[in-house]
Amino acid sequence: MRKFFVLLMILSMAFVAFSANQLEIFSWWTGGGEEEGLLALFDVFHKYYPDVEIINATVAGGAGTNAKAVLKTRMLGGNPPDSFQVHGGMELIDTYVVTGMMEPITDLLEEWGIIDKFPEDILKICSYKGEVYSIPVNVHRGNVVFYNKAILEEVGIEKVPSTWPEFIEVLKKIKKAGYIPLALGDKNKWTATHLFEDILLSTLGPYNYNGLWNGRTSFEHQGVKEALEIFKELMNYVNPNHASLTWQDATLLVFEGKAAFNVMGDWAEGYLKTLGWTPGKEFGWMVVPGTKGSFMVVTDTFGLPKNAPHRENAIKWLKIISSVEGQDTFNPIKGSIPARIDADRSLYDDYLIWSMDDFATNALCPSIIHGSAAPEAFVTALNDTINMFITRKDVKKALKEIIYAAEDYLE
Ligand code: GAL
Repeated sequence: MRKFFVLLMILSMAFVAFSANQLEIFSWWTGGGEEEGLLALFDVFHKYYPDVEIINATVAGGAGTNAKAVLKTRMLGGNPPDSFQVHGGMELIDTYVVTGMMEPITDLLEEWGIIDKFPEDILKICSYKGEVYSIPVNVHRGNVVFYNKAILEEVGIEKVPSTWPEFIEVLKKIKKAGYIPLALGDKNKWTATHLFEDILLSTLGPYNYNGLWNGRTSFEHQGVKEALEIFKELMNYVNPNHASLTWQDATLLVFEGKAAFNVMGDWAEGYLKTLGWTPGKEFGWMVVPGTKGSFMVVTDTFGLPKNAPHRENAIKWLKIISSVEGQDTFNPIKGSIPARIDADRSLYDDYLIWSMDDFATNALCPSIIHGSAAPEAFVTALNDTINMFITRKDVKKALKEIIYAAEDYLE
């Protein structure tokens, strides 16, 4: 019997020693340009910590469609990963910080001497009551349109449209020429809301759009109704099979020369590059019509959950992703710009330099569907409304629902 207990003890010690050298990273970056960036980041980690085994815990589905629910269940069940992808802003603060599930990490940033190496606005949305709770690994831009240059050339579009009426004119020409004017893949719903929030930014302008989140702008503002009308009009130009495609499938339509435009965050830029395209050569980009001067911010961050099983390794992870080396390895592949202000610009392509310059000078606006602007309950309600709107096409009804959701879920 004693022998058995000794054996058991040895075995459990071996297990602790073994498990102590793991690191579980949770995200939804599973492919299509997303996984490539993550794996490159793992390589940087292994350069400094070769003995740590990384468990790449991913749940597929763009924008965290499926991952977010799995993560929440794990967090609520007391089974957190060591660190996880979460959008800076309400998704982090409202869901995990206010509820007491995260450790503050201000001290770590101070110890590493990098607390002043991130844009204030970005660090602010990762903070609560004076403490930082997550580290931004990137900044994606939400209000971009990517296009197939060859199609635009063939159809004779010399100047890219900058207003909605101009855009609709161009879409008409493309439709006539036999191409899909606007690629959409809303199988996972969020891409429709992504398009809607970009339109909303255009009709409200950055000041009023940002005002939606502090009560300064009412959802009864004419711009909300206008956005629904433009959205409805645009649906006349999307691929008929949009409801069965993912965002990658939609971007692929542009790559395959079947569709001209795709309104998508610049993770599509990362995807197009992994498919073999060069920005400016085979594909071009423009801001979503009517949003020049505004930058729809999407930021992926990682934090430290309370009771992380391998806390020390999680801290090592945070150190790597917050380093210039980590950020400059990840972002050129991912299609995002570094959150670090002292990154090496020479490593970024023409598109990303354009994005960096706009980020530095534009009005910054938090994305709704990518977790920064509003609490989860509002995002879910808006997402449902917009997706039903695609089939119902009832502006009045959708508007009413959005106003109710704002009353119910926004303070
Ligand atoms: C966003 C996320 C990006 C990208 C995209 C598509 O929410 O911030 O990094 O992964 O979803 O999956």
